[in-house]
Amino acid sequence: TPSADFVVVANRLPVDLEHTAEGERRWTASPGGLVSALEPFLRSRKGAWVGWPGVPDVDVDEFDDDGLVLHPVSLSSAEVRDYYEGFSNATLWPLYHDVVAPPVFDRSWWDSYVRVNRRFAEASASVAAPGATVWIQDYQLQLVPTMLRELRPDLRIGFFLHIPFPPVELFMQLPWRAEIVRGLIGADLIGFHRPGGAQNFLWLARQLVGLEPTRGAVGVRSRPGMVQVGDRTVRVGAFPISIDAAGLDTLSRSKSVVERAKQIRAELGNPKAVLLGVDRLDYTKGIDLRLQALHELLHEERLKPEDVTFVQLATPSRERVEHYQRMRGEIEQMVGRINGEFGRVGHPVVHYLHQSVNRTELAAFFSAADVMVVTPLRDGMNLVCKEYVASRADLGGALVLSEFAGAASELTSAFLVNPHDLDGVKNALAAAITLDPAEGRRRMRAMRRQVLTHDVDRWARSFLQALGAEPVD
Ligand code: G6P
Repeated sequence: TPSADFVVVANRLPVDLEHTAEGERRWTASPGGLVSALEPFLRSRKGAWVGWPGVPDVDVDEFDDDGLVLHPVSLSSAEVRDYYEGFSNATLWPLYHDVVAPPVFDRSWWDSYVRVNRRFAEASASVAAPGATVWIQDYQLQLVPTMLRELRPDLRIGFFLHIPFPPVELFMQLPWRAEIVRGLIGADLIGFHRPGGAQNFLWLARQLVGLEPTRGAVGVRSRPGMVQVGDRTVRVGAFPISIDAAGLDTLSRSKSVVERAKQIRAELGNPKAVLLGVDRLDYTKGIDLRLQALHELLHEERLKPEDVTFVQLATPSRERVEHYQRMRGEIEQMVGRINGEFGRVGHPVVHYLHQSVNRTELAAFFSAADVMVVTPLRDGMNLVCKEYVASRADLGGALVLSEFAGAASELTSAFLVNPHDLDGVKNALAAAITLDPAEGRRRMRAMRRQVLTHDVDRWARSFLQALGAEPVD
């Protein structure tokens, strides 16, 4: 019997199933910002999470993970290829990220997307208690709100998009643009990171589905825009996501993290400046651009190789999608080139790990880094830069941040850069490396004030309040 009063639906479960070399099954943490933001929140609620276990062709029964009910949805290999790698990550992902790579429009991928979205809707309907709140996440599941409403009109349904919602001219390229809008408006509340995304959506809802805005079509955080869908009011607004800031702040002050940070610096040879990048290996993240900036600074002798070390942690991601493979090749070639030209035996300039690291180790890297380099060409929010700020209780470190990350409008004391402007990126890196410590503390204090007061709990509460699922405080 359906029993959960609060249900999160996302493409991935918060844990990934892994088959070890010994043929055993093991669960590991899933990659990406969505999970790192939502998991701590949902654990405190004891809800249910509907999602894919991350590997094709496995059937896993619902299970209890420390009070959180995990309800796996299985995908076949063909669905992983067509719905996940295809429509989600080779059509929607590049289209919604400013067509940084050309999106591919394939009709069989779309069919698979529809089928898998229906399966997620059915799974959600089977776990939600009467009158429950169901919160659907991200671009992989944009048809679920309407499909679920048809199955279960008694539910309160929210939808949040974790990536940018594109400008209307780009969205209009999509052959299934009206279907996507119709899929979303089954929700009672549709949330985006930025007011611009909400406005774009409201414009499209009018153009493509003929929905008229009620009461001013502005999607600001406190006063979402609204459209009338039959006898229902659908609200549309901006809700910038964040992180478990207090948790990371505490972790970064712990003895083990402080010691490990020291050890990392020593292992790197105690250079004058440690630069750090932490990203999923994704072509939207601008990892290649920051390496190019570093290369030029070294080449022009504005930086000395013995003074700087650049650590790039690149979490493996979507490895079978062509553009990801190409980007990986380019990045690895540039790492080799920089080390080949400027490294010495035992002292490479760039340390590159194509691995995921755990939370404690990550906090130690944040604490060890003098300059955090975050240069996406487009990013819905970017949580890594907020994690860096939350990890710097010592007020040390500096942040170089792309204007095209959603976080740029909150972290205005960072060194903001246009990642397409390589000279600008180089100047910002040089300025961050030579930053006056007092000025650095001033900037970090301002950024910490923002991040520590606008955490993921506040984000979730403000969304759920606008959805009417939580009392307004
Ligand atoms: C981004 C997306 C998430 C996704 C994550 C990891 O943060 O917004 O929906 O889960 O990347 O990507 P993956 O394809 O590995 O789930």
